[in-house]
Amino acid sequence: MTTETLWYANRATGAVCLILFTVVVVLGIAVRLRARIPGLPRFGTISLHRTLSLSATTFLALHIALAIFDSYVNITLLDAIVPFVSDYQPLWLGLGTVAFDLMLAVVITSLLRNRIGHRTWRATPWLAYASWPVALIHGLGIGPDPGPDWMTWLTVACVVAVLAAAGTRLALGVRDSRRTPAVLLRTAEGAR
Ligand code: HEM
Repeated sequence: MTTETLWYANRATGAVCLILFTVVVVLGIAVRLRARIPGLPRFGTISLHRTLSLSATTFLALHIALAIFDSYVNITLLDAIVPFVSDYQPLWLGLGTVAFDLMLAVVITSLLRNRIGHRTWRATPWLAYASWPVALIHGLGIGPDPGPDWMTWLTVACVVAVLAAAGTRLALGVRDSRRTPAVLLRTAEGAR
């Protein structure tokens, strides 16, 4: 494989990672909201979320492997695990590494799910939520073109999708917190 092909493949897997991680974050919010995807039962949303998380992790492994195999740039396995030590674009690559390490923490806590406490387990989605913007900035910063290209618009679409999902969650949270005292008051009055 030529280094040009490897570079295109690396860029393509990066784009797929970005799309998959975005869908995983949006589905994670949908699962928290107990929302149903049209045509799918509720457990379907949960299993889709799980399957896409695995696919995203697989594509990320491929993305990293392609970056390491590409001899045009000097990126080692260590650079992919330890942030900001790479000779090549240390800041932007380092952010990709931070995102990868956070994902790794999510995978490890998921595998140890039965051994760690429920509280720790419930905190894992926050690691994934934290890794998403870091990965996004890595993609934006490490990109080759000075001006906006299709990758920039793809990134904008991903931001819009996550902001819409997070906004919906926030709005429903505020609505529920306003409704709860009224419901409690009504229940208390009914009990009298
Ligand atoms: C969740 C984690 C990650 C995501 C979502 C991601 C996503 C992306 C995206 C979208 C691009 C394309 C940017 C563009 O061409 O406009 C890219 C490029 C790249 N990524 Fe990642 N990445 C991640 C982690 C990593 C890690 C851990 C490494 C370390 C080896 C890495 C190495 C690279 C390299 C070398 C490029 C191409 C640089 C160039 O064009 O010169 N990425 N990534």
